Amino acid sequence: MPSGVAARLAVRYADVAQVLSDSRFSRDLNGSAAPRFLPGFDFMAYNLGLLVNLEGERHQRLRGFVTKAFSRGRMDRWRPRIHQLVDDLITDFVSQGSPADFVSRFADPLAGIAMAEILGIPPESGAELRAGAGALASFAAGEGEAAREQAAAYAQRVQEIVRHVEKSPGEGLISELIRVRDETAGLSESEVCDLALMMIIAGHTPAGILTRAAVTVLADPDLYRFFGGSTGLSSAADELLRCHSVALSNVRVATEDVDLPSGTIRKGEAVLASIEAANHDAQVYPTPLSCRLSRDAEASTERHLAFGRGPHYCLGAHLARLQIEAAFSGLARRLPTLRLDVDPDDIKWGALMRSPEKLPVVW
Ligand code: HEM
Repeated sequence: MPSGVAARLAVRYADVAQVLSDSRFSRDLNGSAAPRFLPGFDFMAYNLGLLVNLEGERHQRLRGFVTKAFSRGRMDRWRPRIHQLVDDLITDFVSQGSPADFVSRFADPLAGIAMAEILGIPPESGAELRAGAGALASFAAGEGEAAREQAAAYAQRVQEIVRHVEKSPGEGLISELIRVRDETAGLSESEVCDLALMMIIAGHTPAGILTRAAVTVLADPDLYRFFGGSTGLSSAADELLRCHSVALSNVRVATEDVDLPSGTIRKGEAVLASIEAANHDAQVYPTPLSCRLSRDAEASTERHLAFGRGPHYCLGAHLARLQIEAAFSGLARRLPTLRLDVDPDDIKWGALMRSPEKLPVVW
């Protein structure tokens, strides 16, 4: 890893699925001797309370406060609003004229506004936090002191936003968490901020996946046309997720010797589980590199691991699927001639989530 600490890399579907779901692999890396991904400083000191880095009772307790807000039922209620948001963004796209940047004009605002509305914060704060998430990304990629300071400022800004919601509570998730804190003492002040921060960082993820997927979908008229139809859209979104998931899941450490299908991991060893490799394992997905939008409907197909598996399974999975499906079906219906305005070889890919920084499109 960049820290110089050795880690095992799990790449087979069966190994990755086990690393993610077996409780003998821990995400709690708070001990000073725990393996570090980055060199030079203690990353964990900055995000001790982030849900994805917790394990056991505390993890389950905190996860319990936010699970309902992202359930399938709740997301079904958000469905009309997400479709409306897609429609509004396309209208804006069209009114500003072709060519346009898919990232800044469509994917980023879609993920950011959706998350801001679910959290119950003003869209301007959503936009500001969206921009700030880049600071956290550089921070996570270890780009020096300035990035670290930006990240600390970002966490501070999230605290201010929580205080602002406190003054005029509404229906959003942050208000719900504040009510839990005040009415049942079930959450502490810092836990509310940590949960909000986790949601804001994670809530931005669909933008990157959507843009990566757009490179494939807009370059292939058959794929794009598929989204103009009315059946199989949710399975098609899942195939895009399989093809375009990039996550190396966060570092885990073995708390005892564990036998994986491909070998033994010793107690104390760090493991990185490559979701991307697992989702392209040819033993599980024949012709893994081709994006077949009806693949998910094939009876033998294993569930992809884009959202992880086990206790840390992505809370935003229904929301992310909904955004991907709504985005491509809205675009294919209203802008059937939409296509890339860049040679895929000339696209500049961002470092952390490996999605294009800009994606010029025309229609
Ligand atoms: C396409 C978009 C997304 C992808 C590919 C994705 C992927 C993942 C993955 C792989 C994990 C597990 C990490 C691990 O086990 O180490 C995860 C966890 C998580 N995701 Fe997502 N995610 C996406 C969107 C979202 C959204 C929109 C939210 C907003 C609510 C979200 C919230 C979370 C949270 C809170 C966790 C931590 C859960 C826990 O530790 O209990 N994600 N995500």
